[in-house]
Amino acid sequence: MFGDSRRTVVVVGAQWGDEGKGKLVDVIAERAAWVVRYQGGANAGHTVQIGDSKFVLHQIPSGILHSGVRCAIGNGVVLDPDTLFQEIDGLVKDGVDVEGRLYVSDRAHLVLPYHKLLDAESSASKEIGTTGRGIGPAYEDKVARRGVRVLDLRHRDRLEKLVTQGVEHAIAQLRRFGSKKTVSVKETLDLLDSLAQRLLPLAEDVGLVIARAIKSGASVLLEGAQGSLLDVDHGTYPYVTSSNTTAGGAAIGAGIAPTNIDAVLGVVKAYTTRVGGGPLPTEMDEKLAEETRRLGNEFGATTGRPRRCGWFDAVVVRYAARVNGLSDLAVTKLDVLDTFDRIALCNGYEVDGDVHSEFPADLTALERIAPKYEWLPGWKRSTADARRIEDLPVEARRYLDRVHELVETPITYVSVGTRRDQIIGL
Ligand code: IMP
Ligand code: MG
Repeated sequence: MFGDSRRTVVVVGAQWGDEGKGKLVDVIAERAAWVVRYQGGANAGHTVQIGDSKFVLHQIPSGILHSGVRCAIGNGVVLDPDTLFQEIDGLVKDGVDVEGRLYVSDRAHLVLPYHKLLDAESSASKEIGTTGRGIGPAYEDKVARRGVRVLDLRHRDRLEKLVTQGVEHAIAQLRRFGSKKTVSVKETLDLLDSLAQRLLPLAEDVGLVIARAIKSGASVLLEGAQGSLLDVDHGTYPYVTSSNTTAGGAAIGAGIAPTNIDAVLGVVKAYTTRVGGGPLPTEMDEKLAEETRRLGNEFGATTGRPRRCGWFDAVVVRYAARVNGLSDLAVTKLDVLDTFDRIALCNGYEVDGDVHSEFPADLTALERIAPKYEWLPGWKRSTADARRIEDLPVEARRYLDRVHELVETPITYVSVGTRRDQIIGL
């Protein structure tokens, strides 16, 4: 992905998340100086497998697994300081050196225990099927201008005032939800006091640091979480997460200029999954979904929930290509389709005899559509050992060519397994 004219690269999910961004970031980060997470929080779960070790990262960029790479958590992230340190300690225990390589934007907002409680107690969160990590409530506080930022830990008086406001608001919300649970200012402050000593040394003006790195010619990878169809503006609202997951969000959330972005890699599965509620136009019948779930181990990395499975939806990915300005596509988990007799690609939505090729904003339109499929023959052979495109069965290549044509974006990577080496670069 990196080259003379490609120094700042964004990696986004181009479906509903869990496309395998963690693995792609891990592969590409080898040549990066910096990896920056730009939105979301501990709702993400990026799984990276190296040899026999499996790492699940929620907040720390997957680039941390390369010793020479420096990582940052941008201002656009809502940071859960408690789980951040659990994650750091877990990495250190597994022999990954984190010290001096991880920075946190001092502008990033904090996810506090009352945000998680609100997420757990809200019936709206249940209906959407959130991860329960307090993401929505933390972004709500940010936009309502009562959030607590990392830099507030430097000013104890102001921190106390902000936490008092936040707790008051949280209690009022809990009462409205009919919840009997409560939160206390003192417990929240005690937690923050104990975490501040560890968090403040990591705090930096990340936007400034990254702008300087870009100016000096360094390679910078901006790592998105979730997927484009979960973007609060462009996704299947209200069944979305609370941040801008798409490439525009990368500039905002890392604190750099949009003109600094040179390329955008969209990661897609060779099929589709989603966790939680909301439309999934190409959803398979339960028998096939169960088979796909088993073959692809489609269970949430954060919540363990079974993921819903569907065929590849080119309407969705073409839409994501447009909204993100994708320059490249990575197709992951091709090997999951190895045993299928035939494979479907959705190339349009049919409503009352008309075929629509653009993804609608109004979800009620999706209730009435029937996906229009084209069927391709399966390859019925293992692709797990393919390392060059020529190693793939002709049927698999035909499938990928058709994805490229329908999405109008060139494929740069194909992943054929969970391990780091199971990748084809085109
Ligand atoms: P929240 O981000 O926890 O508020 O959840 C909102 C929606 O986004 C729910 O449907 C979640 O299942 C979904 N979601 C959040 N994070 C991820 C992720 O990392 N992968 C897939 N879906 C996610
Ligand atoms: Mg995930």
